[in-house]
Amino acid sequence: MKTKVKLAPSILSADFARLGEQVAEATRAGADYIHIDVMDGHFVPNISIGIPIIASLHSWTNLPLDVHLMIQHPERCISQFAKSGADIITIHVEACSSLHRVIHSIKELNVKAGVALNPATTLTSVEEIIPYVDLILIMSVEPGYGGQSFIPSSLDKISRLRKMLDNKKSNAELEVDGGITIDNATSIVQAGADVLAIGSSIFNAKKGISQAMQMFRKAVS
Ligand code: DX5
Ligand code: ZN
Repeated sequence: MKTKVKLAPSILSADFARLGEQVAEATRAGADYIHIDVMDGHFVPNISIGIPIIASLHSWTNLPLDVHLMIQHPERCISQFAKSGADIITIHVEACSSLHRVIHSIKELNVKAGVALNPATTLTSVEEIIPYVDLILIMSVEPGYGGQSFIPSSLDKISRLRKMLDNKKSNAELEVDGGITIDNATSIVQAGADVLAIGSSIFNAKKGISQAMQMFRKAVS
């Protein structure tokens, strides 16, 4: 039987002035990870948050912190992110010339290692690294901003990655990030996702964070 799908509220869409409270609410509402988007203004045009904010979240949640690095040359600051208490560090295949080495250095710090792919990046770019990673993240929008629409062809990409992971008997989690709503969550899970990173549909939900979390839990169960 498929293990429970994990919900990872993405704080990019949170109210940063009340970040701690909102993370605590998502935690109480049954989140599995807290997804944290780090952007450098180079790899993506936007700049978001960094190491001190990640460190400060520990007083608001005891959930694993799923840190998604949208930064060039992530190898330069992996150890600081590990020290800040990241439980999973995901780097982009497009941002990194020595993927194998960087994955190895993340794992040496006793942190789970993930690799992310932009929408136009093919699955073959991560095929060889599958045995060494704990998570593969498929971007279903161009990275950089919350609130964009899910790119429909991502569904096929998710199912192809699912098959690839199953064929290789990999336990790596398949995370999907971008444009997930209550209307498409079920089909994303049916295509093979294990973890859903959800930003605006949780933090900007009219009915509030807790209610949105409940609706997503229902949609993926
Ligand atoms: C975008 C980020 C996402 C973002 C998703 O680059 O990686 O995690 O927060 O936001 P939504 O769910 O609004 O598309
Ligand atoms: Zn993300």
